[in-house]
Amino acid sequence: MKQPKKTRVVVVGTGFVGSTYAFALSGARLATELVLIDRDPRKAEGEAMDLNHAMAFLPPMRIWAGDYDDCREADIVVITAGAAQKPGETRLDLLARNAAIFRDICSRIVAAGFQGVLVVATNPVDVLSYVSWKCSGLPASRVIGSGTLLDTARFRFLLDEYFGVDPRNVHANVIGEHGDTELPVWSHADIAGQPVELMAERDPRYSREGLEGVFLDVRDAAYRIIERKGATYYAIGMGLVRLTQAILRNENAILTVSTLLAGEYGADDIYIGVPAVVNRDGIREIMELDLTAEESAAFRRSVGVLKEATASVFVETADTP
Ligand SMILES: NC(=O)c1ccc[n+]([C@@H]2O[C@H](COP(=O)([O-])OP(=O)(O)OC[C@H]3O[C@@H](n4cnc5c(N)ncnc54)[C@H](O)[C@@H]3O)[C@@H](O)[C@H]2O)c1
Repeated sequence: MKQPKKTRVVVVGTGFVGSTYAFALSGARLATELVLIDRDPRKAEGEAMDLNHAMAFLPPMRIWAGDYDDCREADIVVITAGAAQKPGETRLDLLARNAAIFRDICSRIVAAGFQGVLVVATNPVDVLSYVSWKCSGLPASRVIGSGTLLDTARFRFLLDEYFGVDPRNVHANVIGEHGDTELPVWSHADIAGQPVELMAERDPRYSREGLEGVFLDVRDAAYRIIERKGATYYAIGMGLVRLTQAILRNENAILTVSTLLAGEYGADDIYIGVPAVVNRDGIREIMELDLTAEESAAFRRSVGVLKEATASVFVETADTP
């Protein structure tokens, strides 16, 4: 029987997010090898054992607890390592703690001779994606942050609840920082071609205030979930599988991810969430939406916050990220 081509995914950080992603990936028929790495090797080993015990029920896959040398033959390395958000802590508060962890991890991945696509999910994800790009020396197209992928998924789900339609028929994006300054692009939000702003204007069942309420629920979703269960991981785990699929299947899928801007949206030298075409090589191109003046101003505010946070990392470390 013809063997499937070897496709390897390495997950660095097997906490809630990393192990949920690994679990979802193990049933997704996207990769033939899955390597788990954690600062605590016993945690990675335990996760590998538990996942392997599901192999009788799943498509064939080799899963093991490995080390950074395994990144040499990896198609994708997904970093979910780091400290998690504490109740009441903003994502930017996490920065100093996680930037130090990333310098170490990225240097080890590169030293192994990694040639694939690096995906970052740890928060603050936009700044850590920038740090990873700088530290790794990889082309920006091959360093992707999960950005507002999750926020956009939440937005589509909550718009689906508000309008009572399937989220797959909702086209709407949240862009900007994955965090407090993110913004909804109402001017390009539609349901099967019908602008949602027009629906809110014309149909008495809906309203502008209702739409604003939907976005506030999206923006604050992580806080609400963390207050209740301490962490969020199912939706981001599935979002990372979706991103993995877009890369490994060379889909040219448009996903809202964190990527390096070089003049697009009037900004440069910053990682931030925008819609982009994703394929086997990483980011093929950025989709530049024609924003309204109000949306552009909100996006600029988000860029400003991220610029400041990113600069703080580089000042703190005397320019060596
Ligand atoms: N991007 C998103 O949309 C999104 C969504 C949810 C969570 N997150 C973020 O994902 C990150 C992980 O969250 P979590 O809930 O899985 O946290 P967690 O504490 O459960 O897991 C973190 C793991 O990283 C490991 N780790 C720490 N330092 C390491 C190092 N130097 N090398 C290797 N492994 C190391 C820890 O041992 C732990 O297993 C957090 O930053 C969180 O805010 C992002």
